[in-house]
Amino acid sequence: MAKRHPIIAGNWKMNKSLREAQDYAVRLLGMLGELTEIDVVVCAPFTALSVLKDELEESVIHIGAQDMFYAPNGAYTGEISAAMLVDVACTYVILGHSERREVLRETDEEIAKKVKAALKAGLTPILCVGENLANREEGKAFAIVRGQVEKDLTDLSADELKRVVIAYEPIWAIGTGKTASSEDAQEMCAMIRSTLAGIAGVVADEINILYGGSVKGDNIAELMEQPDVDGALVGGASLEPEGFAQLVQNAV
Ligand code: G3H
Repeated sequence: MAKRHPIIAGNWKMNKSLREAQDYAVRLLGMLGELTEIDVVVCAPFTALSVLKDELEESVIHIGAQDMFYAPNGAYTGEISAAMLVDVACTYVILGHSERREVLRETDEEIAKKVKAALKAGLTPILCVGENLANREEGKAFAIVRGQVEKDLTDLSADELKRVVIAYEPIWAIGTGKTASSEDAQEMCAMIRSTLAGIAGVVADEINILYGGSVKGDNIAELMEQPDVDGALVGGASLEPEGFAQLVQNAV
């Protein structure tokens, strides 16, 4: 099996002022500035990205956005392009987060266009997939997640697919304190990898698959032991730099 370099990404969601963002970046850098075993990514709101650029651009900590639009430029009031993210030193972008799928009614068609545009601009998309509680209770979790992976990764070359990161986030585990068991997380991540193998062949072994949903400092190590879990997408537990740094250290 190809060796994958683990990734821990923090998603601040709609939190932090400029001052808070700068303070966070300085403190995180002080704690993780020498870490090379794991790629650490901080995914901030658009307004905080230029502050992160100033503090983190030259460091080992990567900067990510939480969404982008698929068109390169033009009359799309309120939207942000992939090139604009590259301009503020982003190297990652979260796409298809369940909060955008559910609250903002984002479709798989739109998400697929965003994935393609992100890759074209040189960004690493963190594509989020996951079932809700009703899907799981009805025994449809695997079919839902497989469908999202297939629909959101259409029309990509093997070289492009290699650069995608998938985050499996069961919606019922997000912000609820209920983590999927490490066995459940492994089972779904293995299914995602076999779906990727169907799309991309052997390249599937090189694709990072993260787990997200109430990941904390005390459950990350067990999740990281799973053979198909290559890291985590962390919401609430990424909001304080000390706690996030400890979580990252526990994943090493
Ligand atoms: O993007 C992160 C996920 O939505 C997980 O959030 O760690 O607060 O459950 P959480």
